[in-house]
Amino acid sequence: MMRWFRKTVKSEQSDDQDVKVMSNETPEAPEAQQEELDQAAGEREQGRDEAAATTLAAEEEGSRGKSRDFSETILSVREVHRTFPVGGTELHVLKGINMEVRSGQLVMLKGRSGSGKTTLLNMLGGLDQPTKGEILFRGQPLHQLSDDKRTVLRRDQIGFIFQAYALLPLLSAWENVELSLRMAGVPPQQWKPRVTECLELVGLGKRMFHRPFEMSGGEQQRVAIAKAIAHRPKLLLADEPTANLDSQMGAQVMTVFKNIIHTEHVTICMTTHDPTILEVADHVYEMVDGKFIE
Ligand SMILES: Nc1ncnc2c1ncn2[C@@H]1O[C@H](COP(=O)(O)OP(=O)(O)OP(=O)(O)O)[C@@H](O)[C@H]1O
Ligand SMILES: [Mg+2]
Repeated sequence: MMRWFRKTVKSEQSDDQDVKVMSNETPEAPEAQQEELDQAAGEREQGRDEAAATTLAAEEEGSRGKSRDFSETILSVREVHRTFPVGGTELHVLKGINMEVRSGQLVMLKGRSGSGKTTLLNMLGGLDQPTKGEILFRGQPLHQLSDDKRTVLRRDQIGFIFQAYALLPLLSAWENVELSLRMAGVPPQQWKPRVTECLELVGLGKRMFHRPFEMSGGEQQRVAIAKAIAHRPKLLLADEPTANLDSQMGAQVMTVFKNIIHTEHVTICMTTHDPTILEVADHVYEMVDGKFIE
């Protein structure tokens, strides 16, 4: 499993031997933004290597014997069904889903287009409700909570990542991440250190003041990850987070995921079609026509 990551790091490092294991830089003042933008082209390659460097940090941490804590049940899904009314009939999309996700796990859902993956992921994050069945999030019955209570729970404990990054286009990486802290009600004095920490964690210490159109797809997705984890959620839900990326950028995103499981103690549940990415999952659920197969 780790061989795949080592290979990725090695090939990226060979482009630039002067790779930093962890960035300790402080954020530049807003007035330095223009200068930062001017340096963008030359720094692009180095920025890619920063993400690879997070792999080294994660592996180093692992080799020091720090293990993940699987003791808490984050999600417990029991006999979940979801039907949608379509054209006077009921479309039965989820047909009795059972699953369990424990803290520190990287769980993946795979299955053909239309098999129900996104429908299930939306329910795991409290964006939608099952027609029948139970979803317990850290012991709380998501399926019984009001819209308002689910909104609060999502805001405090769940982060979302989508295929199309979902960044605000006119805001810089920094402002995008800061916005998520504002919306989560985090006290303003914590914004600056936390935004810096999250952007460095995803290897974007040198891209803080770039706007989305000034970044590659992989960099944008890493900003989206920083944004999703800034408020310290327990659970990160990612719907095809690497589908728009080439294999190298997809590998960088997965490197960041593995890293934040250790450093942020987050649990990740994601969907993917990519067999290479499925290799790094702790558990893969395969969905066929609204059901999991063994
Ligand atoms: N709100 C809705 N109303 C009616 N039908 C829906 C709704 N949401 C999803 N569906 C249907 O449910 C089925 C499963 O959709 P879903 O988006 O969960 O599939 P998926 O596995 O995520 O596919 P993909 O890999 O293409 O993203 C599809 O047939 C879809 O048309
Ligand atoms: Mg989908």
